[in-house]
Amino acid sequence: MSCLTAVLLLATSAVYATVAPTPEVTLPLNKWYHEYDHPVHALFKRGAVGDAVSYSAVGTPEWATGFPPGVPDTASLPQAWVDALNAAVKAGKIPDIPVSTGSNGMNPVYPTGYDPMSPTVCSSTWKCVIPGDLWDAPAGVVGLSFDDGPLPPSPQLYQFLANNSEHATHFFIGTNILEYPDIFMTAFATNHDDIAVHTWTHPYMTTKTNLEVLGELGWTMELIQNSTGGRVPKYWRPPYGDCDTRVRAIAKEVFGLITVIWNQDTSDWTLSEPYPAVSPEEVQQQMTKWLTGPKDTGLIILEHELSDKSVKAFMDAYPLMVSNGWKRLSVAQLDAGPAYQNSWNSTSQVNPAMVGNSTIQPPTLSNTSTTKPSGTSATGKPGSSGAPDANQKSGATHFSVASLALTGIIAFIVATAGGIIMA
Ligand SMILES: *[C@@H]1O[C@H](CO)[C@@H](O)[C@H](O)[C@H]1NC(C)=O
Ligand SMILES: *[C@@H]1O[C@H](CO)[C@@H](O)[C@H](O)[C@H]1NC(C)=O
Ligand SMILES: *[C@@H]1O[C@H](CO)[C@@H](O)[C@H](O)[C@H]1NC(C)=O
Ligand SMILES: *[C@@H]1O[C@H](CO)[C@@H](O)[C@H](O)[C@H]1NC(C)=O
Ligand SMILES: *[C@@H]1O[C@H](CO)[C@@H](O)[C@H](O)[C@H]1NC(C)=O
Repeated sequence: MSCLTAVLLLATSAVYATVAPTPEVTLPLNKWYHEYDHPVHALFKRGAVGDAVSYSAVGTPEWATGFPPGVPDTASLPQAWVDALNAAVKAGKIPDIPVSTGSNGMNPVYPTGYDPMSPTVCSSTWKCVIPGDLWDAPAGVVGLSFDDGPLPPSPQLYQFLANNSEHATHFFIGTNILEYPDIFMTAFATNHDDIAVHTWTHPYMTTKTNLEVLGELGWTMELIQNSTGGRVPKYWRPPYGDCDTRVRAIAKEVFGLITVIWNQDTSDWTLSEPYPAVSPEEVQQQMTKWLTGPKDTGLIILEHELSDKSVKAFMDAYPLMVSNGWKRLSVAQLDAGPAYQNSWNSTSQVNPAMVGNSTIQPPTLSNTSTTKPSGTSATGKPGSSGAPDANQKSGATHFSVASLALTGIIAFIVATAGGIIMA
């Protein structure tokens, strides 16, 4: 337990770019939030204006049948996705770095010559921050987000959020949406919360090939689109916080997704594990420390709707967020823009105009770009951000020995403590 405390105490303070949330603006008619030549328009077409797509009712067999029941088969991905990936690769927008190797709870490892802290790789698991990714909240703001749902513990959380008029961002796992459509609908249609992507099967994404990454993100986006009246997700959070320049570029260049990590982690996901890394009391101690601490950088605390205990950890900490004057916003709200690529939020208008307009062709991407990933310009510097206690593990679909870590060494200590000698 003490090693975990040491891990958590390693959080560093730092320099933050804080952006005050701007007031909501009206979504311009006939326009998405990405420029018209962005691949995401072509990938998630809707009918032309006045010719609305009809989506199967959420939870029906027709709604589910077109989606892969498990790990996506890379041989049968929609051709439009593969074409968009190939175009992005050809344009030099997807860094050509090797996949990492997972090692049972340790940080993913790259072949010799590929330093995870280098600008070439910039692994978020190793705390390398790519500018433009979301790690921090604006001053005075605590971002509410929950990973791994929808799951049976979720409804209690949704009731609590609704009781308190709070909105959160839910980073949902695609196969969990297939399994729990009613719970999904409570989050989306009853609570009007923001729905975001947490991949199809919750893998370490840097261990996946380009095509595997495509399937993990694309199917989750399509299922969310088909279950929300056509809303195209704008945010994703990599499972375990595991991302690098390659995975991040596929998310951004092909699907238009913004990558969200976190700057504090309670390890609440372990509360329901056979050998929890923390007790509920320790989670509250951490929460209390952050929520009574300085507000110059806001908090994005990694939290889960994975178990009754992880949900309770949030509900127990919530009164302190209120009494200490933290502004509570969903992660999408704190980023001061719309929650979806084509709609402000879960109740506002969806902009179908242009999307699926047959005059809009798949983008022709320039092949003269440099090999530098567009829009990333990784610095390779360790978190200019509140230290993420990255590499969390959450066991919604997979189980492995604990993998909470800041670095490989600490990962090893914690994995050992959690899996072998934890008292
Ligand atoms: C998503 O919905 C659209 C519109 O109804 C449909 O054409 C498409 O096949 C659906 N996707 C899957 C994978 O079922
Ligand atoms: C929500 O509020 C209702 C009515 O006050 C209450 O019965 C219920 O226990 C609350 N649920 C949660 C999870 O806070
Ligand atoms: C969603 O946006 C509409 C305006 O488009 C606004 O009236 C409503 O309050 C928003 N809902 C939430 C949950 O923020
Ligand atoms: C389709 O796109 C073209 C080119 O931008 C535009 O002129 C036309 O009005 C659009 N049609 C519809 C139905 O939105
Ligand atoms: C790639 O760039 C070259 C040089 O600018 C150009 O001649 C060629 O047509 C481009 N190819 C494609 C497929 O865009």
